[in-house]
Amino acid sequence: DWTPSNVVHDQVAAIRAQVGDARVICALSGGVDSAVAAALVQQAVGDQLTCVHVDHGLMRAGEVEQIERDFVSATGVNLVIRDEKERFLTALAGVSDPETKRKIIGREFIRVFEDAQRDIVAEAGEHGAEVKFLVQGTLYPDVVESGGGEGAANIKSHHNVGGLPDDLEFELVEPLRTLFKDEVRAVGRELGVPEEIVARQPFPGPGLGIRIVGEVTAERLEILRKADAIAREELTRAGLDGEIWQCPVVLLADVRSVGVQGDGRTYGHPIVLRPVSSEDAMTADWTRLPYDVLSIISTRITNEVDDVNRVVLDVTSKPPGTIEWE
Ligand code: XMP
Repeated sequence: DWTPSNVVHDQVAAIRAQVGDARVICALSGGVDSAVAAALVQQAVGDQLTCVHVDHGLMRAGEVEQIERDFVSATGVNLVIRDEKERFLTALAGVSDPETKRKIIGREFIRVFEDAQRDIVAEAGEHGAEVKFLVQGTLYPDVVESGGGEGAANIKSHHNVGGLPDDLEFELVEPLRTLFKDEVRAVGRELGVPEEIVARQPFPGPGLGIRIVGEVTAERLEILRKADAIAREELTRAGLDGEIWQCPVVLLADVRSVGVQGDGRTYGHPIVLRPVSSEDAMTADWTRLPYDVLSIISTRITNEVDDVNRVVLDVTSKPPGTIEWE
């Protein structure tokens, strides 16, 4: 029988069998998947686990602080935050191709974990040499869409599955590999992970890096972060979070259009709102948001975010569109 408590029971046993006495590090992104994966591993092997959050500079406003505060206070896990913003910006400089961006982000992400491992080993002395496991919150749809499932087409290389470097030094622990999102949430609740984390909408591992169409730069990230924060704030204020699976906010950095603001002509970038309704992200429909909410979001973004003079709505289902633009 599929029940959350059976999944916890089975996975805890499987993790213990896989890991033994070794130390484990967990890729904690701040999303529900990695949080539930970490909580499972914590349940299985306790303080053998160290969580590491890579601050790749591609997170949304306030998210790193939220991981530090909410997740740590809920679970009590050891958390190391690595500030790698410069490293990712440098690696992404000049790159516009979506798949190349995904591969670069995935590669750097894993390398940072290898650095984290070295530091943890150095701190732990002799016993640290046994750090050889990396936890990832890979879900069943990620496996299928990356070509890992039977008969699956390779649509996008999800950075927690595809694009891993050949010289990977870790063995992966992926306790959510057979689960869909709603099942992960049920398992999270079973484990006592707080509701604000369990109910969180999905956010891709490569973060805002794949929501800027064009090259990723610090200035563009700042623009997108402001627009995204406004959209999220207004959707929450309107009570629409439960209705929406997720709402990517995308910056078309390579597109400009003419506008007028105050006394003058502007030549700014469009922001795309991509609200979708879905059961499992394999298929999705665009969410029919109330016009007055769209209007508030549009007015605020064009007024408050420099260099943005137009807000457009994506009314494409999946298929044919994917949820993310890249
Ligand atoms: P697409 O764009 O393929 O997205 O329709 C399906 C779901 O997956 C999320 N997504 C990712 N999640 N790593 C992740 O952990 C990734 O590389 C990644 N790419 C997309 C996306 O936000 C949506 O929920």
